Amino acid sequence: MVDIAIMGHGVVGSGVAEVVLKNADLIEARAKNGVNIKYILDLREFPGLSYSEKFTKDFNVILNDPEVRVVAEVMGGLHPAYEFTKALLEAGKSVVTSNKELVAEKGSELLKIAEEKNVNYLFEASVGGGIPVLRPIVQCLAANDIFEVQGILNGTTNYIMTQMVTKGVSFEEALAEAQRLGYAEKDPTADIEGHDACRKICILAALAFGKHVNPNIIHTEGITKITSADTQYADFAGCVIKLIGRAKRTEDGKCFVTVYPAMVSRKHQLAQVDDVFNAVLVRGDAVGDVMFYGRGAGKLPTASAVVADIVDCVKHLDARKYLSWEHVEDDFLTDYREATVKMCVRVKANECRESVKAEAEKLFGEILVLGRNGEPQDEIAFITPYAAEKSLLSQLEKLPGTVISTLRILD
Ligand code: HSE
Repeated sequence: MVDIAIMGHGVVGSGVAEVVLKNADLIEARAKNGVNIKYILDLREFPGLSYSEKFTKDFNVILNDPEVRVVAEVMGGLHPAYEFTKALLEAGKSVVTSNKELVAEKGSELLKIAEEKNVNYLFEASVGGGIPVLRPIVQCLAANDIFEVQGILNGTTNYIMTQMVTKGVSFEEALAEAQRLGYAEKDPTADIEGHDACRKICILAALAFGKHVNPNIIHTEGITKITSADTQYADFAGCVIKLIGRAKRTEDGKCFVTVYPAMVSRKHQLAQVDDVFNAVLVRGDAVGDVMFYGRGAGKLPTASAVVADIVDCVKHLDARKYLSWEHVEDDFLTDYREATVKMCVRVKANECRESVKAEAEKLFGEILVLGRNGEPQDEIAFITPYAAEKSLLSQLEKLPGTVISTLRILD
């Protein structure tokens, strides 16, 4: 029997306890060892549970108990999760986590400590909730040169965008419904501003390219500025709008990483991923395109991934697993504005839309003019041909009108 501890008894932590207790026999058979929850760390009281006696408020009880070999950190946030995780790894305990913020920020440091101490730091649940994606990238796709990862990495924003596209509701209405259904947090900033998706694409990029990607310097746009007009123009163009995390290697061996809402052709693999589902599309030189799809959030889907990591740690108590990436300075990343894109541009004309169209054709060559119900006389929306984003944006300044919005088209 191997003793474990769970730090945090929120949505994910309570799910981890539930799955470990409910599937104890299965887990024992697969881990080749029983798994005993010895402690649960939480400052709150949880009377009346079948395992209420396991709660402690003192982290040192877990840290100083040599019988605890594996700890699930499901507290979330950077502090004190970082200090606790570091201390546990240094004490020779393996740690598993769903904490994307901590992995994205401090992953290289924590992985290095795990390596030095010959223990494991596993975080399958940090990206895509219950979707197996990190292990497949590192193990099953190990033969590939992975040159691109694209994903719908946040369930809350995908639910909001799906509602806006399919029901024509406003962003505010869709967000209120997401909160009512319990998908979005009371303070949904990290979801709707793209920070959560940013942390996840940084982890994916680090594993795919083997180098740390600092989430604090990634160009991140959320979905708060998307309007019904945008979704209607997208529909006209045969597209939906999705919040996309993307990491792509460039020809000079660098890489750009971005998070922004993009128009996605209905023929693209990611276009059909709706509601709170997540999907990750990985492009490798040998395998081609591979897509991972499933529930990216929620109590039991996330617990599924955390408990699988616990099983892995228990099976490999004295062996190191495969996860690691090199710590590098930020110059590994290149300016995303150098990337070639097509853009949907919505313009309020100074005088008439025909003059904007004529000027746009002069600047860009062939453009595709879009339409929508109730389009104002002085508005025009069009799709540009491919060009470097930087040059597209500077050309747009020359139009005889005010650019209301721009949306990139995902390729
Ligand atoms: N708030 C996140 C989401 C949860 O909506 O996807 C998982 O990170």
